[in-house]
Amino acid sequence: MARNGDLTGEVHYPSQDIIRQANQPDYDRINQAMINDLAGEWGRIAKEEFEWFEPWQTTLDSSNAPFYKWFVGGKTNIVYNALDRHLDTWRRNKVALLWEGENYDQRTYTYHQLHREVCRFSSVLRAMGVRKGDRVTIYMGRIPELMISMLACAKIGAVHSVVYGGFSVEALHGRIEDSQSKVAITADGAWLRGNVVQLKDIMDEALQRAPTVQTVIVVKRTGQPVHMEPGRDLWYTDLMNLPIAAADCFTEVMDAEDPLFLLYTSGTTGKPKAIMHTHGGYMVGVATTLKWVFDLKDEDTWWCAADPGWITGHSYIVYGPLLLGATGLLYEGAPNHPFPDRWWDIAERHGITVLYTAPTAIRGLMRFGDAWPNRHDLSRLRLLGSVGEPINPEAWRWYHRVIGNGNCPIMDTWWQTETGHFMITPLPSTPLKPGSATKPFPGVQVDVLDEDGNPVGPNEEGYLVIKTPWPGMLRTIYGDPDRYVQQYWSRFPGMYMTGDSARRDEDGYIWVIGRVDDVIKVSGYRLGTAEIESALVSHPSVAEAAVIGVPDEVRGSVIYAYCILRAGVEPTQKLVEILRDHVGHEVGPIAKPTTIEFVNSLPKTRSGKIMRRVLKARALGLPEGDLSTLEE
Ligand code: WTA
Repeated sequence: MARNGDLTGEVHYPSQDIIRQANQPDYDRINQAMINDLAGEWGRIAKEEFEWFEPWQTTLDSSNAPFYKWFVGGKTNIVYNALDRHLDTWRRNKVALLWEGENYDQRTYTYHQLHREVCRFSSVLRAMGVRKGDRVTIYMGRIPELMISMLACAKIGAVHSVVYGGFSVEALHGRIEDSQSKVAITADGAWLRGNVVQLKDIMDEALQRAPTVQTVIVVKRTGQPVHMEPGRDLWYTDLMNLPIAAADCFTEVMDAEDPLFLLYTSGTTGKPKAIMHTHGGYMVGVATTLKWVFDLKDEDTWWCAADPGWITGHSYIVYGPLLLGATGLLYEGAPNHPFPDRWWDIAERHGITVLYTAPTAIRGLMRFGDAWPNRHDLSRLRLLGSVGEPINPEAWRWYHRVIGNGNCPIMDTWWQTETGHFMITPLPSTPLKPGSATKPFPGVQVDVLDEDGNPVGPNEEGYLVIKTPWPGMLRTIYGDPDRYVQQYWSRFPGMYMTGDSARRDEDGYIWVIGRVDDVIKVSGYRLGTAEIESALVSHPSVAEAAVIGVPDEVRGSVIYAYCILRAGVEPTQKLVEILRDHVGHEVGPIAKPTTIEFVNSLPKTRSGKIMRRVLKARALGLPEGDLSTLEE
């Protein structure tokens, strides 16, 4: 690719070496080919790169849009492609997973070993009556059994619903109940900063509120005594030592459009919703994006430092790397435990070549200074990545200069739980501008629109929309197809509404600004105002609550809550602490408000909607703007 000297602003060009070795060196060519024939190109990739038990008849079926279907009639199983097919190749003895515990425990699984564990656990689940289409809730820390559980479900056609191990009772309960899971898989506890997170206790409390679950399988990780409910709770190791844990276990033949997993995420209003992804399209999209954007090769050691309990982990810790036959690392604990160089120590010892993390982590580690990373040999790194929120140029430059030694391009990937895989992102050959996710992935067409649906001019802010279907797109909201249509496809008919605002500069580069709805990103974690508000009002002293996000230097945003107390309740500092802990207990520690302010009223529109814009202005001491719609 020729050096384009005409780009505006701060531009970082990739070296010729980087371009030469890239799996997909020519953005313009492939992008044009995909725009010309989207179904044709994806069909070609799906056929060349994956195994199908039976071919599909229609690559993309738009006849019932927005309920798009991909690879219609095709039969496959994502686990067949992620594990089984590697066993007859040299990759059988390649390391699939490197795992490091927070206490420096180490485990390594080759493809052979990982496949065997997955088969044995699949056999256990089958023997317990789990069948194709059944939902299974998984709630664990970052341990190999989390991945094994997900893969074991998918192998037998069960639909996993992973709940992030940092969530707590009510968040877990709501997700179990909505998915109607009969089986839950958890652990006794998880290590975090040297402390035990009591996962089993939280599960027990959640299950008191959700009686659908008949069986709980418990992995022993932290070893403290836990309650085991007779007739309901079973130890994972006990089951795996029974003859039912057979190592030969057939992989269920799945329709390309059969559900693979549910993942709950926060949206505009109300309860978290279950985003549904499928075996076929998700598989093709996730593996292809990973291959082109992070250029994964057999000699790489990939580290996606996210949590498997969020979409980033589903796509790029669990499925993507295994589909490519890559070696990936999973680390259990906190980035700065026991010292601020823990991550750099891991990167050096395991010889990480490609590292993918979030701006909040970069900013957090940047604060400890350059000396911590500088005492480690990070020279194996060749590409870096960022995801979860816009990366501020200062953090970008630090990441580039100190971690990447000035020669690792940074792939700033914009995407969502709903999109399944990267949507706006550089490829290694793309000239980079710090803070911009650059351009749409090949074949993806986006736009930035004003209130009336007209494209805005260069550098103007507007609604970010996607104009074309893509293979890994969510298929629906589980159990609520109307909400799927209403939430994503109604604001601008025929287009997918992302919920983000963005601007596009004169070079066509996209700069994502942030959410325009009631979603708050705290340390990159996606939380809904509604979930936190309902936790606050579930406390007997709170009559009404409104929550907003306010900017924070490290975490991106933090939670600011306004509460109206019930008559007679004293607004004390002690109550602030009680309410913060209550939110921590119901939703999870990440959802705890940093500030709680007691007020006598909340600004609402005449139709009763809380005017968060006004609250935000108040919290930040800014002008409150147009108040004409405020109720009397
Ligand atoms: C935000 C995470 C700017 C965005 C994969 C999106 C980003 C939301 C970026 C989805 C990025 C994600 N630059 N913003 N590179 N990546 N976002 O569902 O607001 O947890 O809508 O998926 O994160 O969050 P989710």
